[in-house]
Amino acid sequence: MQKRIVAMATVLSLVLPSVALAAGGEELFLQSCGSCHKKGGQAAVVNPADKAGSVWEKYFARGRHPVDISLSDADLQVVVAYLTAHAADSDQPAAAVIPK
Ligand code: HEC
Repeated sequence: MQKRIVAMATVLSLVLPSVALAAGGEELFLQSCGSCHKKGGQAAVVNPADKAGSVWEKYFARGRHPVDISLSDADLQVVVAYLTAHAADSDQPAAAVIPK
């Protein structure tokens, strides 16, 4: 019994941080954009390095996205911050977070 509790606590301690991290930019991007934007998905593959940071900053703010993505404003801000940090003209461009 004691061993079981220790095992469960270990499993929980491994699972919980990844749940917390799911709120991070890359995870959120993969979840909320990657659901449609993927190989064989309903929209073309999209990655942060596809656009410059200034473009990402304005893209959603100006309502350029063609379909409703049902994402809260707070979550969208996290994703846009992530996209900008890894945009084409950033220090760490990310071109293949979603594989082409
Ligand atoms: C419900 C499905 C869906 C979700 C979720 C979604 N998109 Fe889209 N997106 C589309 C569709 C459909 C198009 C238009 C067709 C295409 O570009 O393949 C599009 C187009 C785009 C374009 C224009 C294509 C281009 O190269 O300029 C960008 C940029 C884009 N989406 C980024 C995103 C980002 C970033 C997210 C996450 C915040 C996101 N999308 C979430 C469906 C979605």
